[in-house]
Amino acid sequence: MSVMHIPGHTHQGPGEVTLPEIRDVMGDCQLCPLGQTRTNLVFGVGNPHARVMFIGEGPGRNEDLQGEPFVGAAGKKLDALLSCAGLTREEIYIANVIKCRPPSNRNPRPEEIEACSPFLREQIRSIWPDVIVCLGNFASQFVLRTQAGVTTLRGRMHQTGHFMVCPTFHPAACIYHSDWQPLLEDDLRMVGQWLAEHPAQGVAR
Ligand code: URA
Repeated sequence: MSVMHIPGHTHQGPGEVTLPEIRDVMGDCQLCPLGQTRTNLVFGVGNPHARVMFIGEGPGRNEDLQGEPFVGAAGKKLDALLSCAGLTREEIYIANVIKCRPPSNRNPRPEEIEACSPFLREQIRSIWPDVIVCLGNFASQFVLRTQAGVTTLRGRMHQTGHFMVCPTFHPAACIYHSDWQPLLEDDLRMVGQWLAEHPAQGVAR
């Protein structure tokens, strides 16, 4: 499914389908087995007109319980990192590659990513950010359509169509790899610099 069918819409361009409409289409999603084990579907949260969209991997335990992305330990780390890019939570949108927690926080499976991906694509299309920050391998590989790992991808801005993409480490990974933390901070500073050099055009939607 490349274009989501929303009743009443004949064509979906950037920003035409709203986030609540996409959430409604997901409903009580059972497109993969994670629908049976989740507590809450974690759709995403933030500014629907964000210039910067963050994409993580998938909900952890706290996110599953609260229904919001990055509210647990990884969320605290993310909050601290935003200032490196001169951003606040109110300015950004955060979503995950998969919307439901894998049991025991195992990695998402290819078929789960495949089943969930139309919704993330529609979120990106709705928000139409200038920059997508991909946290970790799953988000980076999904957005950049590559098998390359984040260690080789990170450190520079990539472009895919309209979007500038910053692949970087997952904040949770830096809990175990403390040497990655300064690199993650560098990447976010690079995003802040890109934003400063490319002021918003102020296109009304
Ligand atoms: N890790 C993620 O990738 N996403 C979350 O929402 C929380 C932790």
